[in-house]
Amino acid sequence: MTQPKSKNITWHGAEVTQEEREQLRGQRGCVVWFTGLSASGKSTIARRAEQMLLQQGTGVYVLDGDNIRQGLNANLGFSPEDRNENIRRIGHVAQLFADSTTICLTAFISPYRADRDMARALLPEGRFIEVYVAPPQSVCEERDPKGLYKKARAGIIPEFTGVSAPYEEPLAAELVIDTSLGTIDECAQQVVDYLKAREFVSL
Ligand code: ADX
Repeated sequence: MTQPKSKNITWHGAEVTQEEREQLRGQRGCVVWFTGLSASGKSTIARRAEQMLLQQGTGVYVLDGDNIRQGLNANLGFSPEDRNENIRRIGHVAQLFADSTTICLTAFISPYRADRDMARALLPEGRFIEVYVAPPQSVCEERDPKGLYKKARAGIIPEFTGVSAPYEEPLAAELVIDTSLGTIDECAQQVVDYLKAREFVSL
């Protein structure tokens, strides 16, 4: 973990233990980390899963790349160093959400394995669920909802993931979802089912 620049700072704990907090809230926090190419369906699946869980009374929240880059990470671009910092900050924010017993769904390309592993290392064993959203790249390029692949292929957008910047596939994701094979509901349901099976939510 990055060493803090500040000196003379002290960690303050809560008045309740983590077990008490989870018992009182009736749910266990975790991070569901969606990774995959642009237009793979990360945000769409995360948003639908969020809606399903909310409707069942679960405390859940989505952190989304395009949104976070307009605020917290407005000073970051797409160089490997900036993507690393993007994921470092999000990893810590997601960890805080999980600590508060919230189910935190994150939707970032997060193309580097080492960056995802860094985010995983912030959570206790079993509390970081990596979801590889993996339709064929050709499907992402056909979807191209923002016209970014077209621009990247034309050389207008530099360092574009899958075109002129790498995407390192997960080697041991907890879930792999090919969004070209199922409906949005079916894909989101896979995530909800996983969370139920591991008793993060009691549904
Ligand atoms: S990450 O690589 O640092 O994890 P993040 O998920 O935050 O990326 O942002 C990706 C989004 O930014 C894409 O969905 C796309 O809309 C937009 N974007 C703009 N430029 C690029 C680029 N060069 N590479 C990838 N995505 C880009």
